[in-house]
Amino acid sequence: INTVMFEDSQVASKAVAKEIADLIKVKQSQKQPCILGLATGSSPKGLYAELVRLHKEKGLSFKNVVTFNLDEYYPMEPDAVNSYVRFMKKMLFDQVDILPENCYIPDGTLPKDKIASYCSDYEKKIEALGGIDLQILGIGGNGHIGFNESGSLQNSKTRLVALDHITRVAASKDFAGLSNTPRTAITLGVKKIMEAKRVILLAWGESKANIIKISSEGQVTNQVPASFLQEHNNVTFVLDKEAASKLT
Ligand code: F6R
Repeated sequence: INTVMFEDSQVASKAVAKEIADLIKVKQSQKQPCILGLATGSSPKGLYAELVRLHKEKGLSFKNVVTFNLDEYYPMEPDAVNSYVRFMKKMLFDQVDILPENCYIPDGTLPKDKIASYCSDYEKKIEALGGIDLQILGIGGNGHIGFNESGSLQNSKTRLVALDHITRVAASKDFAGLSNTPRTAITLGVKKIMEAKRVILLAWGESKANIIKISSEGQVTNQVPASFLQEHNNVTFVLDKEAASKLT
């Protein structure tokens, strides 16, 4: 795994935004869509803010961009305060010129018996566009990527999953307590993440230092799904000083 350390998360986020902007422009010049895999949570906020700035101040256009978000809570209404649809609209989609029909996020409103076929269609859409050009990831304290929790297999598909207790505890601050926090989510599987042509994982702060060390230097194991990334040939862990502090 290629790891790069920056002075702070803001400088790091700008560097990642620059790479994405360059990719969008290359694809534009080739008259190709640019397929981005996106994450929510606190880690990519600075990245999205910088992409918005590049749009507003530097004329970066998202007209050729198609996005697939990693995950959504289930059940979840799109306009609920904690929905990932709402998060993405606020942080990015509503502030740039991306076409709404090009923004895919797993649907948290489906009846249970429709989820499996919906998930397989989600993957087929990605495949029909030629796969994900660049996947942005955060990492959970337990090493989850997307909501692929400990125990997820390397070839796992997009599916409904049970959230780990530790993931729910981390989310509970947004949901005003654990009892209001969803127990399940729909997540892109590990397989599609591993098939992305390039993967950038973002991690900031001391609280991520341990799992960053375990994921990048420890054994590849389904107990730590982020460790699967050791087997990807084009992945970079973008870190601030604190998140990198335990690397050897
Ligand atoms: C979010 C996602 C999660 C988060 C992870 C880290 O779409 O897939 O894997 O990236 O839980 O969350 P933060 O960035 O809030 O520490």
